[in-house]
Amino acid sequence: MVRTLDGTELSRVMRAEMAQDVAALQAAGVTPGLSVVLVGNNPASQAYVASKTRACEALGMRGQTLNLPEDVSKDELFAVIDRLNQDPTVHGILVQLPLPAHLPYKAVLEHIRPEKDVDGFHPLNAGLAFVGDPRAFVPCTPAGIMEMLRRENVPTRGKHVVIVGRSLIVSKPLASLLMAPGPDATVTLTHRHTPDLATYTRQADILIVAVGKQNLITADMVKPGVVVIDVGQNRVPDTSSDRGYRMVGDVDYDAVRQVASAITPVPGGVGPMTITMLLANTIQAARQTHAKQA
Ligand code: GUN
Repeated sequence: MVRTLDGTELSRVMRAEMAQDVAALQAAGVTPGLSVVLVGNNPASQAYVASKTRACEALGMRGQTLNLPEDVSKDELFAVIDRLNQDPTVHGILVQLPLPAHLPYKAVLEHIRPEKDVDGFHPLNAGLAFVGDPRAFVPCTPAGIMEMLRRENVPTRGKHVVIVGRSLIVSKPLASLLMAPGPDATVTLTHRHTPDLATYTRQADILIVAVGKQNLITADMVKPGVVVIDVGQNRVPDTSSDRGYRMVGDVDYDAVRQVASAITPVPGGVGPMTITMLLANTIQAARQTHAKQA
């Protein structure tokens, strides 16, 4: 019987635990605060940002969105980040990606104070995470996947994890977390230039797909009993929905479900876990700032 790895339910449990951490910090006079910077009006980004700040408020944290126009200059954006870097009520700063092409996203991410970089995208945090330093903010999607595997008792030691995709946001940090002492997985990273992708995906005990391409993984590309983690978030037209679209992942869910031992749905799998780990990172940032002041 295939198991559905339910990120919504796991998140509910974790957020209830975290609400207690927030209450303890508030009793000590600190309300964890997250500021999200959104440039332009990409509808998918607007939806993600809204759910991030809503989740903060539901936990008793401060969640703020700063909406900047599509044509904002680099200097104007830097000035906004400078202000947030200096604001003691802001513990976490997140600049929603992708940014418009005229903005140098690497320089923007490097402009965020590493202590407030709850996305974990600043090179200092990426480096700390790579060497396994616990001070690092670990990017939220990889952290959420690790937490899901742990809480769902999916063994990783000695297992072959095949990751499809090579992004800085998901795949690279995830590979480093999975191969570290503790998880002890054997990791294969594949990407768009990997010839005959199925040769690799068929070897996976755990298959993680983070590409952004509907139906990239079909049932003939996996082995029976595989655990499938689908990070894809693709909008497909759907006239039966009020919104006119629905979300699907990168995996042919109905067919692969027949073969897998466990699988994440889209929506309701990895997505909620990502937001949960963003809340966790913001609480960690607030706690670390508070510990320094005390
Ligand atoms: N865009 C898609 N995923 C993410 C994320 O985790 N953080 C940010 N800042 N932007 C994103």
